[in-house]
Formats: sequence, structure tokens, C-alpha cells
Amino acid sequence: MESEKKVMLSGIQPSGALTLGSYLGAIRNWAGRAEKFDCYYFMADMHAITSRQVPADLRRNTLEQLAQYIACGLDPEKNVLFVQSHVPHHAQLGWVLNCYTMFGELSRMTQYKDKSAKNAENINGGLFTYPALMAADILLYQPDYVPVGEDQKQHVELTRNVAQRFNGIYGDVFKIPEPYIPEVGARIMSLADPLDKMSKSDKDQNGSIHLMDAPEEIMRKFKRAVTDSDTEHCVHYDRAEKPGVANLMQIYAACTGENYEAIERTFAGQGYGAFKAAVGEAVVALLDPIRTEAARLLADKAYLEEVYRKGAQRASYTAEKTLRKVYKKIGFLAT
Ligand code: TYM
Repeated sequence: MESEKKVMLSGIQPSGALTLGSYLGAIRNWAGRAEKFDCYYFMADMHAITSRQVPADLRRNTLEQLAQYIACGLDPEKNVLFVQSHVPHHAQLGWVLNCYTMFGELSRMTQYKDKSAKNAENINGGLFTYPALMAADILLYQPDYVPVGEDQKQHVELTRNVAQRFNGIYGDVFKIPEPYIPEVGARIMSLADPLDKMSKSDKDQNGSIHLMDAPEEIMRKFKRAVTDSDTEHCVHYDRAEKPGVANLMQIYAACTGENYEAIERTFAGQGYGAFKAAVGEAVVALLDPIRTEAARLLADKAYLEEVYRKGAQRASYTAEKTLRKVYKKIGFLAT
């Protein structure tokens, strides 16, 4: 019998070491859902090659990301964890959806504009059509919710538009998914430049906290975090006027569950130095168990292989059903 549960799905590109941004914006909201939802989480390696990857690094990052998913609380018995390229249906539905996604829609995607501005020497076709593949990633599994950070909202909205367009022509083929974005932690900024998003591909390594950073490293990066020139060192939440402090407050709030007023009260008169150290400690407390567990899992390659092989089988089962339906609807001759 088919499961009655609602479905959740999300993915991350293994294009670098996972950051605190991906953790607070996405992964943290994936864990603990498996009782209520059928959950699919994957390593988006096909998306990662839209920017040039060193093959050995891509392999290592993909496996490390799987270990980190599990260490973040995604039990592979209860969640389907898989590698995107192991399930060929993504590429197959991706092609179909390319033919239902408009050039103008793709041209408006902020991530495409940002990435092509940053990588002027490699503006490839995959970077441009990436959202059609992302729509396929999502729609194959008919999810109700897609838990992502703020920056991916536009892609999920495009997915909804493409699905609605397709359903409008062929009847109800796809469920229309909702983005699920956390209230706090949806957009973590770089510690080195609080006007820029914290990112895996950040050139300035002091700006990003990685899930595998040692506690000393995390503390060092927070001590160096950019704040502002306010001589009063006032810990006050104002994104426009005090973006560095607001970002640190967001991180502290996401780690401890405290609200901004409480944080302002706690750190009133203490100065930026004490506040930055407290944020660092809160992050270490959150990430250290994950780092230790991920390192332990990474030493057991046979186990990780078994997890991603089983994951690909389970994912393929669901993906196959959707793809068959789509192929039939659009008029492809049955095999
Ligand atoms: P990616 O790999 O850039 O980021 C992975 C997830 O982490 C979130 N995130 C952040 N959240 C808050 N603050 C930050 N600084 C931050 N940086 C990253 C992202 O919003 C995302 O949720 N296209 C996607 C990967 C993808 C996908 C999918 C996601 C491919 N197919 C299908 C959902 C469903 C991406 O590039 O995310």
C-alpha cells in the first residue's frame, strides 16, 4: 500500500564543505521529520558540475556530505538519502522540463545572474538551465514541502510555475510543492562581509564556518567577524544599519532559540568582544557533536556505500513512477 504520509524533499550541492548557512537554513529543518513525512534528501552532484569541480574533491565532498547528513540526525533507515547522479530519472525528467521552462523565466533567476557575474569565464548552458533540473529533482518525488534557505525560494517558485504549466496541459501529473523556509537562519551572511551570503564557494575562508571546523577554528573566525564602527558597541538588531551585528544575532538566536530582545538585554553594555565569543561558543556547542559523529562515520566507507546504494534504490522506485506517467502523457512510445 502507498504511504499516506506527506512528502518532504531537499538537496545540497557537494561543491564545497558544508557551511553553517546550509545547516541553519536547510539541514536543521530536515531532521526529526521522518515520523510525519516521507523524507528524501540528496547530494546534488549534477548541479555541482555547473561550476568546475576537481573530480577527487567532488567525490570526497559528496561522501562527506552524506556522513554529515547522518550526523545531523537524518537516520538512513527513516530517510531516503541518495546521490542525485545515481538516479538517472533526474536527468531524464530534467530534459523534459527544460522544454516546459521559458528562456525568460530562466533569465530572471537571481542565482544565475550572481553566479554568471562571479564566473564570467564559465557561463555554461547547465548553469542557465539548472532550475529545470532542480524542478525535476523536486517533482519526481511529488513532495508537499521543500525545506530550503531564502536564496532557493525563487527556484522553488519556478518549479511551481513549471508544474502548474505542465498540469494545465496534461492534467494533474505533479503535486504543487511549497517552499518551507525557517523564520530564523534563512539567510546567514558571511562573517567577513555581512552584505554577502555565507557560501561554500566563498574565497575568503574567514567568512564561512564549516561543519567540520575544529572549535578553535570556529572561535578564531568569530573573533575576527566584521561588526561596525559603533563606539558604544551596542548589540542591537538592525539589518540595514548594523548588518554584521544583526547577522551574529541571527546566528546566536538560531543556535540558542533566544529572541532578539532577550539577546539585546543579555549583552547590553558587554561590548562586541564578549558577544562575538558567546556566539562562537553557541556555534561550537551546536556543531561539535556533528563534527565528531561525521568523522566517525567517514571512517566507515562500507557503511556509507550501503546507505547511498539503498537510498538510490528507494529513490528510483518513486522517481520511476512519476517519470513513466510523464512520458506517457507527453506521447513517448512505451518501451
Ligand atoms: P545550495 O547547495 O546552495 O544550498 C543548500 C541549502 O542551504 C541553504 N543555504 C543557506 N541558508 C541560509 N543561509 C545561507 N548562507 C545559506 N547558504 C545555503 C540553501 O538555501 C539550500 O536550501 N539548488 C540548490 C540545491 C538543490 C535543491 C534541489 C534544493 C538542487 N536541487 C531540489 C532543494 C530541492 C542549491 O544550490 O543549494
